[in-house]
Amino acid sequence: SSSQTDLVQEINRLKAAKKALILAHYYQVPEIQDIADFVGDSLALSRKAAETDAELIVFAGVHFMAETAKILNPSKKVVLPDLKAGCSLADSCPPADFKSFREAHPDHTVVTYINCTAEVKTLSDVICTSSNALQIINSFPKDQKLIFAPDVNMGRYLNKETGRDMLLWDGACIVHEAFDLEKILNLKAEHPEAKIIAHPESETPILKVANFIGSTAALLRFAQEDASQSFIVATEHGILHKMQQLMPEKTFIPAPALEDNTCACSECAFMKVNTLEKLRNCLRDEQPEILLPDSIMKEALRPLNRMFELS
Ligand code: 13P
Ligand code: SF4
Repeated sequence: SSSQTDLVQEINRLKAAKKALILAHYYQVPEIQDIADFVGDSLALSRKAAETDAELIVFAGVHFMAETAKILNPSKKVVLPDLKAGCSLADSCPPADFKSFREAHPDHTVVTYINCTAEVKTLSDVICTSSNALQIINSFPKDQKLIFAPDVNMGRYLNKETGRDMLLWDGACIVHEAFDLEKILNLKAEHPEAKIIAHPESETPILKVANFIGSTAALLRFAQEDASQSFIVATEHGILHKMQQLMPEKTFIPAPALEDNTCACSECAFMKVNTLEKLRNCLRDEQPEILLPDSIMKEALRPLNRMFELS
């Protein structure tokens, strides 16, 4: 539409004038992915945010991601199109409860998935993402006692893969818990040639039937490198845009969810509160801005730096 064309032009003009960097996660709506300077998974986005010289970082993702960008590059201004872009997984780990949990197990090292608040990061020994979780966990001796938080589904998967018995926090992502195993198996029966690929935030029965499990970036890479022509994709629907764009000759079928919704798949309502218009607004107005107390930024940086040292 012409208004969308106008918005795109205005964003490009503002971006050039302000020398801003637009980062977007694969779960963002297609038009945001298409205008971003870089689209990636949590790890790649963190690296980009840490390395940039741009004075203004527009983070088209959810709050914890923008917060992480600020912690990694505190002298830059970080804005988010909508402060309501939260995360059910981050919400499932309130800092005060997590502090008590950690204090109840003082002999444990705390490995925390990046999908958590800055305050929870300050209570962690090392952060990981779905791209480097196995590597980080395997870097510890087998007999070292570990806590993994906040995602219980990913924790169970990591325990199985590493042969460990990490103590798990009982958090979850509503988007990845919405997949319907029966519908997925029916779809697989209709498309026997399709490979099922899943994000490790999905529940155990889904992961059991998956041909490949990985972060959003790993799922993309697998689809590119694998000889299969079709894939049933068990992660948030947004990534299908990038898959289809990079592999127009292949077929990507979103894994169906328990509740029928507009896409008959699983969408993250938090990721989807960001729109092109809100992106224009935050680039123009340089707000809402991510601001954190210095003490929290300093303490949250420690486990993030440890992650970079180990991966
Ligand atoms: P990755 O893109 O790092 O795999 O994370 C998925 C996710 O759910 C982010 O919220
Ligand atoms: Fe959080 Fe799940 Fe949305 Fe990712 S998909 S941002 S983990 S609620």
